Amino acid sequence: MPLMEPYRVKVVEPIPVLTRAEREAALARAGYNPFNLRAEEITIDLLSDSGTNALSAAQQAAGMVGDESYAGARSFYRFRAEVEGLTGYPHIMPVHQGRAAERILFATLLKPGQLSLSNTHFDTTRANVQLVGAVAVDLPCQEAADLDSEAPFKGDIDLAALTDALTGPDRDRVGIVLMTVTNNGGGGQPVSMANLTAVSRLCRQHGVPFYLDAARFAENAWLVTQREPGYAHLSPAQVARLAFDLADGAVASLKKDAIAHIGGFLAVRDEELAKRCELLLTATEGFRTYGGLSGRDLEILAQGLREVVQPDYLRSRAAATHHLGELITAAGVSIVRPAGIHALYLNAGRLLTHLAPGRYPGHALAMELYLAGGIRCAELGSLYLGEEDADGNLVKSAPYELVRLAIPRRVYTQSHLEYVAEVLAEIAKAPERVPGYRIVESPPLLRHFNCRVEPIR
Ligand SMILES: Cc1ncc(COP(=O)(O)O)c(C=O)c1O
Repeated sequence: MPLMEPYRVKVVEPIPVLTRAEREAALARAGYNPFNLRAEEITIDLLSDSGTNALSAAQQAAGMVGDESYAGARSFYRFRAEVEGLTGYPHIMPVHQGRAAERILFATLLKPGQLSLSNTHFDTTRANVQLVGAVAVDLPCQEAADLDSEAPFKGDIDLAALTDALTGPDRDRVGIVLMTVTNNGGGGQPVSMANLTAVSRLCRQHGVPFYLDAARFAENAWLVTQREPGYAHLSPAQVARLAFDLADGAVASLKKDAIAHIGGFLAVRDEELAKRCELLLTATEGFRTYGGLSGRDLEILAQGLREVVQPDYLRSRAAATHHLGELITAAGVSIVRPAGIHALYLNAGRLLTHLAPGRYPGHALAMELYLAGGIRCAELGSLYLGEEDADGNLVKSAPYELVRLAIPRRVYTQSHLEYVAEVLAEIAKAPERVPGYRIVESPPLLRHFNCRVEPIR
C-alpha cells in the first residue's frame, strides 16, 4: 500500500504565505515567542497536535444531532457507550479537556506529600499533582536516554526503579502510578504491553492505584501491533482494550485521539471514587452528563473515537510521520529515533553546535523554521526546562535541546510535510548562520508560553 491519506478533501481553508520580511516583523512583534504569533501569520502550524485536528463528514453530521438538554442528554449516553465499549470502565465522566480530568482525579485520590510515579508526567499532569501538594516522580526507562537508539518502546517506565520505589523507604507515600501512552514528555515514544502488564502486576501486589494517561491510546496501540511480538494479529481497538484492562481507570485528553477540537474523560472502576469525583465534576466542570461539553461536542467525540482506531487511518498517519522523519534525517538533521506518530523531535543541539545551551539552540531552530518557511513549532530544550539566575544566565540546562514538530490529525498532506523537510534541509546547509537568542522578559510561571526573547546578532 503506497503512502496515501485514506480520505479525500471536502472543505478547504487557504493557508497564508508571508514574505520573509513580513515574518521578521511578525516575530519581532511576538517577542520571538511562537505562542504570540497570530494564526494568519503561519503557513504550516506544527505547534501542537492537540485540538488542531480535522473533523470528518461523519463527525460534522454527528454534531448536528447533538442533544443540548442540560441533564440526561442523548449525546451523553452515546458518548458514554463509546468510551465504555473502548475502555471497559463502568464510570465515565466527560470533561472539557484532559487537565480537568487530572485535576479531579488527583484532588480526589492524592493527599499532600504523596508520590505520583510515572514513565513521564506531561507538564499539566505534573502541575496538577503538585497543586494538591503531592510530588510527581518520573522514572523513564534507560533506553529513553539514548536519543539515537532504535529501541522500539522508549516510552516504557524503568521497572527496576518502580520496584525500588514501591518497596523502598518511601513505599507508603506512593499514591498512584500513572502511565502516559504514548509518552509525550518522553519524545512521543510508545509504551509496550509487556511494560504495562508488569506495572499493573506491581501495582496490584503493592496495593497502589494504577491509571493511564490515555491521550494517545490509539497511536500507542498501533505501535504495539507494529513493534511488539505477539500483537500483530490484533486490531488497534483490541490492543487498546487490553491496555485499559490492566488499569484501575484513565484520564484522557480527547483533543488528540478523538480527532476533535475539545473534550476529555475521566474513567474509573471504583464506584465510591466515581461518586466523589462526580461531586468535583459538578462543582467545577458541569453536571455529570455534560462535564463542560456541549451535546454537539459529545457526539463529535463519540464518532472520532470510532474513527481513530481504524487501521487504515493509523497506518497512514504513522507512515506520514515516518516519511517526514526519513526526509529530515536524509537532510542531515537528527531526530529522536525511532519516529513516533504524533510528533517528530529534532535534535537542535546536534545541528547548531555553535550555540551553547544558554543561547537556546532549540528555540533558535524553531525561529529559523518560521523565518525561512512560515513553519510554527516550539522548542523542548533549555528555554522550556532550563533554570536561570537573577541576571538571566542559564545555570541549569535541559538534558537535550529539542524542537517538537507536532502533526495535527488529517490536516496536512504529504506535500505539506515534504515542504517542511525542504525548509529544514535549506537551514541544514548552513546551520552556522542561525543566531542564538537571549531572554529579555521572563514571567515566574510557564515561561515558554509567555517569555520574550531576542536574537543575538
Ligand atoms: C500526554 C498528555 N496528557 C495530558 C495532556 C493535557 O490535555 P489537555 O491539553 O486536553 O488539557 C496532554 C496535552 O497535550 C498530553 O499530551
